[in-house]
Amino acid sequence: MSQNGLRPCIVVTGASNGIGQAMAKSAAKGFVVVLVGRSDERLTAVAEEIRTEGSETLTLQLDLLADNAARQVKDFLDANGLACHVLVNSAGQGLQGLAASRPLDAQLRMIDLNVRLLVELTLTLIPGMVARHGGGVINLGSLAGLIPGPQMAVYYATKSFVSSFSQALYEELRGTGVTVTCVIPGPVDTGFLHGRGIKDLPLFKYMPSLSAEDVAESAWRGFQRGRRMVVPGITSKLAALVMSLVPLRLALPVINQVQTRWADPCPCGSGKTFIRCCGMKSSTRRRFGFGIPGLLERKPKSPKAKRVP
Ligand SMILES: NC(=O)c1ccc[n+]([C@@H]2O[C@H](COP(=O)([O-])OP(=O)(O)OC[C@H]3O[C@@H](n4cnc5c(N)ncnc54)[C@H](OP(=O)(O)O)[C@@H]3O)[C@@H](O)[C@H]2O)c1
Repeated sequence: MSQNGLRPCIVVTGASNGIGQAMAKSAAKGFVVVLVGRSDERLTAVAEEIRTEGSETLTLQLDLLADNAARQVKDFLDANGLACHVLVNSAGQGLQGLAASRPLDAQLRMIDLNVRLLVELTLTLIPGMVARHGGGVINLGSLAGLIPGPQMAVYYATKSFVSSFSQALYEELRGTGVTVTCVIPGPVDTGFLHGRGIKDLPLFKYMPSLSAEDVAESAWRGFQRGRRMVVPGITSKLAALVMSLVPLRLALPVINQVQTRWADPCPCGSGKTFIRCCGMKSSTRRRFGFGIPGLLERKPKSPKAKRVP
């Protein structure tokens, strides 16, 4: 029981599925766990499972894109006599495809959820943690936040924001007893990959995916040690190292290539696929099998100018 009579709790957004669900299940015993998500049925099932392991759970069915979502979370905690000790921001969405050809609304909603809501909830709940001199925030970033990501441009940019924001907050809160940990996994085997067909992209054929449970275990361990960043798994650590070494001029065309779905429509509105319409030259595609524009495309040989004596 905290000083002001409120019970400490762990709030997990996106707790109905994937990494959020795994984070909620492996949350420290002795805390009330508050599960936030849209699917009531899934939340109830997860809550039941956690209860059988001895932790008290409450569910809050909420669309985090609704007006005042962060305030609604705070009001729910107040109404139940709870104080947020740890906030896990796991709710997030992704979208693959050329930014100019994907629905603008969906991309703006992604920014609202991955960025706006995360900031709003974090800044709503941190003052209480600072007043109680303890606790913290675990934000789900991504390897995608370390580099720009053609074919998932907005998603990568949102994750870059999460990483920057989390690390700055970590420093600002130094000495207060409150820590902020940004978790940056590579591919994780959840509905996030499967639901939107992201798993079909060539990138995920080359990169093995982690389980949500492994990510949750690393995240909690890193948070308990007061880590600023946690990169779960050896493959993601290696990928992060490579990303930091390879110049963007070389990396961007490769990322563009491995995240391209060939049947994506051209943003010019021709009705043809991007590749056939305004994408890379067919001669390049034929020559290299798949063709990485800018990287492997050879310049046509120009005849050597004769030296004039
Ligand atoms: N999977 C990966 O490969 C991967 C890799 C790196 C980082 N991440 C990040 O990890 C986080 C969790 O991803 P995941 O793999 O666990 O995805 P997931 O399995 O698709 O789960 C996403 C969760 O977010 C919730 N959510 C989505 N929109 C919401 C909304 N408007 N309001 C409330 N809740 C909403 C979903 O709740 P409902 O189902 O109830 O709607 C679900 O619980 C995301 O931030 C993602 O960017 C994922």
